[in-house]
Amino acid sequence: MSEIPVEAQVPPSTNFSEAVKKPLQACNTADSAYEKLLPFSTDLELRERYINFFGGLRLGKLLEDLDLIAGQVAYKHTEGWERGLTIVTAACDRIDLLGELRSDRDLQLLSSINWVGRSSLEVGVRISARKGKSWQRVARAYFIMVARRAGKAEQVNKLEPSSSEEKRRFQEGEQRQLQRRAIVQTSYLHNTPTAEESRVLHDLFLRIKNNEIVGTAMQKSVRQSTLLMHPQSRNVHNNIFGGYLMREAFELAWNITYLFCRKKPQFVSMDHMYFYKPVEIGSIISFTGTVIYTVDKSLMVEVVTEVIWPKTGETQVTNICYFTFNTLDDSGIPQKVPLILPHSYEEGLKYLDGAKRFKLGEKKRNYSC
Ligand SMILES: CC(C)(COP(=O)(O)OP(=O)(O)OC[C@H]1O[C@@H](n2cnc3c(N)ncnc32)[C@H](O)[C@@H]1OP(=O)(O)O)[C@@H](O)C(=O)NCCC(=O)NCCS
Repeated sequence: MSEIPVEAQVPPSTNFSEAVKKPLQACNTADSAYEKLLPFSTDLELRERYINFFGGLRLGKLLEDLDLIAGQVAYKHTEGWERGLTIVTAACDRIDLLGELRSDRDLQLLSSINWVGRSSLEVGVRISARKGKSWQRVARAYFIMVARRAGKAEQVNKLEPSSSEEKRRFQEGEQRQLQRRAIVQTSYLHNTPTAEESRVLHDLFLRIKNNEIVGTAMQKSVRQSTLLMHPQSRNVHNNIFGGYLMREAFELAWNITYLFCRKKPQFVSMDHMYFYKPVEIGSIISFTGTVIYTVDKSLMVEVVTEVIWPKTGETQVTNICYFTFNTLDDSGIPQKVPLILPHSYEEGLKYLDGAKRFKLGEKKRNYSC
């Protein structure tokens, strides 16, 4: 039996020929906003499905829900089913933990469109936990959904933000879309490190060489999982459901953190989950995770997802993403993590990339809106 939500696989039955002829109309944020409740405090069967070995929330499962509701909101805003569109997840740009995620508290997932481009939309999801009679925000996520028709980008309805809050979200969404383009340009695959970054790397190299620093070689943190993509993990478009790929990448990163620190991992953030290519049923996917950066009580794991076509053996990277974790002792107190040490030039570049992303993540998490 498939473990992924059934709504991710079965399209609603709609009459599509009528609305497709309508001209595109601007829509309000409220028209497509969506709320999903996960009543963990009372529904023990539901809780059982989301719980991990430590009694905490299995975040990978929650990622599937987030991807699913982001898709539902995007389909509603664009009248996607009626207009015969295919809406795909292009990216889950960020998920940041801002409070405590507990398996014994009800969760509320509130989702709405923040920003709309031509064929792309940013969907924001706010995750809140019930505390007494009120909801307290504990995490936030941004998804980029893209509308396609016959394999080509298709224009979607504009968004008409009305309240000052909606206008703020729209502007911030637009800013983030510009930042996404800028970040791609700063990749070390296209740019050499700055003088300051080279100095950091050289300093690290000397300290490793002179045995002035104790840590674990980056290569030793590498772990892989290889999976065949079964039809049970498909989405409504008969490709592999993005939320499932997110869950698998997350769980590998979680396992790597657990084995690297030998302490309970606490998720802090995920960034750059970009889906470059659809993954077909029957392909083999390899996830390779590496601890690329450590600082005091946090670490960052990079997970590279590659598709391997069994008949030809060809491979292609479909996604590279980054997870930040803290580790906790039995009383829930954050602990120091072992230092990661890069030994090759490529590892050094990954280390610098991790440092840059970690700083950016801290800035985003400290931004409270
Ligand atoms: C997402 C995807 C369709 C983009 O393809 P593409 O050839 O880059 O698309 P286009 O150049 O036509 O761009 C279309 C829009 O998407 C936006 N876009 C594409 N990738 C993006 C990304 N990673 N982040 C933000 N926006 C993105 C473009 O800016 C453009 O926006 P606009 O029309 O509002 O200006 C393609 O990479 C893909 O099919 N990925 C796999 C999706 C998938 O399988 N997801 C998981 C299962 S649903």
